[in-house]
Order: sequence, then C-alpha cells, then structure tokens
Amino acid sequence: MTTMRASELPLPRIGRGKVRDIYAVGEDRVLLLTTDRISAFDVVMAETIPMKGAVLTQISAFWFNELEGVVPHHMISGDADAIIHEVPDLKDHRAEILGRGMLCKRTTVFPIECVIRGYISGSAWKEYAAGGTLAGEKLPAGLLESTKLEPSIFSPATKAETGHDENITVSRMREVVGRDVADQLEHMTRAVYARGEKKTREQGIIIADTKFEFGRDKDGRIILIDEVMTPDSSRFWAVDAYKPGQPQPSFDKQPLRDYLDTERRAGRWNGDAPAPPLPARVVEATSKRYLEAYRRVTGRELKV
Ligand SMILES: Nc1ncnc2c1ncn2[C@@H]1O[C@H](COP(=O)(O)OP(=O)(O)OP(=O)(O)O)[C@@H](O)[C@H]1O
Ligand SMILES: [Mg+2]
Repeated sequence: MTTMRASELPLPRIGRGKVRDIYAVGEDRVLLLTTDRISAFDVVMAETIPMKGAVLTQISAFWFNELEGVVPHHMISGDADAIIHEVPDLKDHRAEILGRGMLCKRTTVFPIECVIRGYISGSAWKEYAAGGTLAGEKLPAGLLESTKLEPSIFSPATKAETGHDENITVSRMREVVGRDVADQLEHMTRAVYARGEKKTREQGIIIADTKFEFGRDKDGRIILIDEVMTPDSSRFWAVDAYKPGQPQPSFDKQPLRDYLDTERRAGRWNGDAPAPPLPARVVEATSKRYLEAYRRVTGRELKV
C-alpha cells in the first residue's frame, strides 16, 4: 500500500482538515478520506506515516460495528469495493481509497466537540492543578495527575474554524444546541465512551479521554459521526506503562514528540511550521505504533 499526503478524487471536495479530505457524494452522503498526514504540537509534518490513514479509518469502522445497537452512526462502508459499488465514479481510484476511505451519511454537524475524560490529563490537569476545578466544576482535592476519574467528566468545547477549540460549560452548551439536544449528546457520549474505555483497557490501551462529534441526518435523527476512539481523536496510553502521579507517554505519538523535543532543545526548531525533517527511524517507529494501536483495539492485524 502506498502512503498518501493529499487525495485527488473525482468528487466535489467540501473540506480539508489537518488529516482528512472530505468529499460530497450526491446530496446526502460524504466520503471521508484519511490521509497519512500527521501533526504534533499543532504543526503538520512534511513526511507521511505509512498506514496511519488506514489505521484511523479502520479503528473507526471497528467501533461503528461494535456500537451497533448502542447509538446510531454515520458509517455506510469502510470497504473499498463496497464503496466503489455505491459510487462507481471511484472505480479507477481503488488504490487511493483502499483502507482509508469511509462512505458516510451526510449530516448537519452540531458545532460542539463532545469531550469526555476518564482520566485527568492535559488541559484538564492544568485547570485542576491551578484551581481544583474541571470544566468549571469543583473536583475532590488531592487527585493525582493521570488518575482515573469516577465518574468520567463530560467537558464540551466549541468547534473552532481555526486555532484551538474553546472549552465551554454544559450550561453554555445548552444555550447553543438546546437543553434536550445537549442532554442527548452527553448521554450518547457517555454510553460510547464507557463501552470503548472498558473494552480497550482489557486489551492493553487506556483511552484517557476522547472527543466525539454528532450530526443530524436527513431524517432528523441525531447520529454519531466523524472518527471514533482513534489515536487522533483520543489520548491513548499503554496499560503496561501506566503510572498515576505524572504525565503518561502517548501510545502513538511519543517517538515523534520526543524527536521534536530534542530538536527544539538543541535550538534547531522554534516550534512553528515548518517542522524539522523527520528521520526514517522516527517515521517507522510511529507507523509501528499506529499499527500496534489497531492490533490492541481490535485484537486483529490490520489487513488492507
Ligand atoms: N457524517 C458527517 N456529515 C457531515 N460532516 C462530517 C461528517 N463526519 C465528519 N464530518 C466533518 O468532517 C470533518 C472531518 O475533517 P477533519 O477531522 O480532517 O477536520 P477538522 O476536525 O475540522 O479539523 P482537525 O481534525 O484537523 O482539527 C469535520 O469537520 C467533521 O465535522
Ligand atoms: Mg477532526
């Protein structure tokens, strides 16, 4: 399988994120194409990570299948041949969509990132360490960094067009989408995370926190969209390396972050784009981590 930085498919492209290209398929479907781009410290690297796009797409596909009966979702298919059957215009582009393309129901997206935290880390740890709160709510005193939160904490954010998402309170979220919808999104978020966190922990990955998006389909139903419990939308930690009381290494991006930190400390990189070129060993180590994440989450080898 070849690695991909950007896609060119014969469909109207309606978006391009840091990692994914989004195409319209008629009126009511979208094709999400996950490239092998990778970002760290908010900078997209020049190099691509072989297999990363397929890992992310197929982890999401795995979860959508697992969640059948738990929440309705947007996936129609993550299989290249099934997608070509539905969208014959893609028949000469099988290699480009193989593993990394997902045909989905198109929705009107709620402008909220539904973040849920089962462990206290990152910006949540910073807020707690500074003032004893998370998402504005008081937490018990004396929690250690990276410790498990019981119950998990729902901490929504607004989807920013550019720059960083902004954390908001649940009452602010209710003003934006309405009380009923806000409650429904929180309920669905908790149900999906509870299921995923337990399952992956038993298989060697802690999903410390994660982010979901929801949209309304053409029939007015609220459904789970976007990517689900992947290393890009979540903080993945290795169960075997987990030690509360300190920050945890990232399961997937740590080799990359360590390299960039070294370059920064050596004065060879100022932290802005462009990032320094990545040595082949860093690219390889990162690709291996993503494949291992797939293996641990799904219990299978990735075959594309
Ligand atoms: N079923 C769907 N219907 C409509 N839009 C969707 C659907 N699923 C995902 N999307 C949208 O597609 C986009 C996915 O792109 P991507 O994740 O690359 O970009 P992003 O989340 O905007 O930015 P980034 O992830 O780079 O910070 C998101 O804006 C998401 O809201
Ligand atoms: Mg995204």
